[in-house]
Amino acid sequence: MKLDLTPDELLSTTRAVRKRLDLSKPVEREVLEECLHLAQQAPTASYSQNWHFVVVTDADKRAAIGEIWRKVCYPYLERGGAREGQGKRIGDAVVHLAEHIHEVPVHVIPCVQGRYEEKPNALVSSMYGSIIPAAWSFMLAARARGLGTVWTTFHLMHEREVAEILGIPYDEVTQVALIPVAYSLGTDFKPGKRKPLDSMVHWNDW
Ligand SMILES: Cc1cc2nc3c(=O)[nH]c(=O)nc-3n(C[C@H](O)[C@H](O)[C@H](O)COP(=O)(O)O)c2cc1C
Repeated sequence: MKLDLTPDELLSTTRAVRKRLDLSKPVEREVLEECLHLAQQAPTASYSQNWHFVVVTDADKRAAIGEIWRKVCYPYLERGGAREGQGKRIGDAVVHLAEHIHEVPVHVIPCVQGRYEEKPNALVSSMYGSIIPAAWSFMLAARARGLGTVWTTFHLMHEREVAEILGIPYDEVTQVALIPVAYSLGTDFKPGKRKPLDSMVHWNDW
């Protein structure tokens, strides 16, 4: 299924989807491969194409990763305290995802070759710049096909444990996120609320 979205609609409605993930509907491998083919078109530093995507559909592995995700998520939410408004809505959605993360049919973990602890910013930027565009293209391609995704990083506090579960060579490969993927419940998403443009754009001077 391809949604009838203009490029601007696609770019403005690819939301963090947590509550509206269809946990009962499997995601076809071919659809994931289409999204990954599109992700491959993203740029990489020096044309290195040094990224990997680990696609996890195995239920036991998703359950083990889900435990780790929750172990970081709940204390994080507690540290944030009671919130109101948008913060509370996001917090409720994060709790919902935490309770169901193992049921989300696919976890996608974008990775990049190398380890970058203590490396200079120029190298670290090249590394992130070589994987995040591809991962975001994956998320856009997924949205265009009626899938919901959300960029998450909780599990990275226990990156080595997740590497062991998935056989990722930790000393050679950096994980950058965990993207839960499922068909979305409904496909009508709206542009998110953002700060005024002039609070974050600087013309010629900071
Ligand atoms: C670097 C990064 C880390 C994030 N980590 C998490 C996470 O661990 N868990 C989670 O539920 N959402 C996480 N998010 C999702 C953000 O909360 C979400 O993108 C933001 O609230 C904007 O949502 P919206 O685009 O739907 O408005 C992360 C996003 C980014 C860019």
